[in-house]
Amino acid sequence: MHRRHFLKCGLTALAAGSVLRRAIAHPAPAVAHSASAMNPHAAPAAADAPALLPADRLRAGQALQPLPLLRNESTEPGTFAGTLVAEPGTAQLADGPAATACWRYNQSLPGPLIVLEEGMNVSLTFINRLPEPSTLHWHGLPVPADQDGGPDDPVAPGATRVYHFTLPPGSAGSYWYHPHPHQGVSGQIARGLAGAIIVRAPQDPLAALPEQHWAISDLRLDAAAQIPPHTYADWVDGREGEFVLINGQYRPAIALSGTHRVRIWNMCAARYLNLSLPGCAFIPVGSDGGLLEKVLPAQEAILLSPGERMEVLVTGADGNRALTLLPYNRHPMMSPPPQAAMAIAPVTYRAAPLPVSEGTALRTITPLGEPGNQLRAVMMEKMGDIMKNKGGTPPRAFLINGKPFDMARMDLNSKAGVVDRWEIINATTMDHPFHIHGGQFQVFERQYLGKKSAPACLAWKDTVNLRPGEIVRLLMRQDSPGMRMYHCHIIEHEELGMMGMLNVS
Ligand code: C2O
Ligand code: CU
Ligand code: CU
Repeated sequence: MHRRHFLKCGLTALAAGSVLRRAIAHPAPAVAHSASAMNPHAAPAAADAPALLPADRLRAGQALQPLPLLRNESTEPGTFAGTLVAEPGTAQLADGPAATACWRYNQSLPGPLIVLEEGMNVSLTFINRLPEPSTLHWHGLPVPADQDGGPDDPVAPGATRVYHFTLPPGSAGSYWYHPHPHQGVSGQIARGLAGAIIVRAPQDPLAALPEQHWAISDLRLDAAAQIPPHTYADWVDGREGEFVLINGQYRPAIALSGTHRVRIWNMCAARYLNLSLPGCAFIPVGSDGGLLEKVLPAQEAILLSPGERMEVLVTGADGNRALTLLPYNRHPMMSPPPQAAMAIAPVTYRAAPLPVSEGTALRTITPLGEPGNQLRAVMMEKMGDIMKNKGGTPPRAFLINGKPFDMARMDLNSKAGVVDRWEIINATTMDHPFHIHGGQFQVFERQYLGKKSAPACLAWKDTVNLRPGEIVRLLMRQDSPGMRMYHCHIIEHEELGMMGMLNVS
């Protein structure tokens, strides 16, 4: 028994090592490929895939609604007290068929928006009325390790848990909350559990601008408008719901102007959002952890991998336009990559003089400085196991540093207050968005196809995408001791092993 186990692990490490050498020596090219050219094992549409709801049955074209706000139950200044109840319910997304059974926070899909301020004392009460354990994780927020809602701290069905934290200066930005239990997180997110958070700063050069919030998620709906279970391809590639929702609405009508500050969240489990608004361009002003150092040049398209957020201004001429997802090939193993653009919302755009211009300083971001500790995370996959088992139980075939996640094992070590230099390597054939808990990091270098590049300006991030063969180097300082997770933010990959634990002493 022992010997067999040892042999199996030995082989795994060997296989992972050769995958790594191969990926680094021959990274996948950046140009679009068909799935079968990329990967000889690619299969046609899975046999376990259900028939979908015809898109014209979904309610569409209603004016985009703002996210409902989570009520502050505290009247004390500088304090926020809120309650989030996770429970099964129904949403009327389509005309005709029955309401969709889904899981929601406070009966809202997505959950209510939590608006906080730097310096606030926050207590959030989580009531779990789901039939299984869950947690609330504050994605990107610098909260103490024991308040982070990780898989080590489950909230049983029927139980209540209060999370407490104080938001430090400089933490303004766009964050989100989602479940993070040890198993079952992909099922909980596929059923609709996620919500947005905004932290505001006392000084914000863009504070006078009206805001729009686009919390983008996706859902799969079968012919009866119900959320079907995962297919095998969903597990391998990450599940993309076919219906893309903005603030829980399908193809809402958006009225946008050149004065809007738009915050965008990618809350999808696996869908990459390569957003464009033909006839207009996006001007990036903020990333995951708030405003950039300065206003960046306008771009035709912006790419948000699962978990990422961005703040943009939108420039262009008056007109009726379509918010569109351009095809982005993240090299899925089993599903064909998207071939065509997909319109996700009609937009009426009104031009206005831009409140800032390229290069305008937005805030000071101090570089984290010299690292005192080195960390390395190599993302790997066991392609053989994945393809061998097709249609069966998904194997735990997604690894970091040769190992699938084990809650009983600390993988890396760090010290509170010391800057870690992380080197993250994608030694697989697919894109993976890498996320680290505990706060925000600064990417300082990317290495792809043998070329090194630096980001356009300093920015705070907590999730960063890596293409096949890509290496990302970043600096991060954990400010308090405890255990922190790091993982791929394609939720199914996280659940199938692509996650590790950092012990901060
Ligand atoms: Cu957004 Cu570990 O999570
Ligand atoms: Cu997180
Ligand atoms: Cu992944």
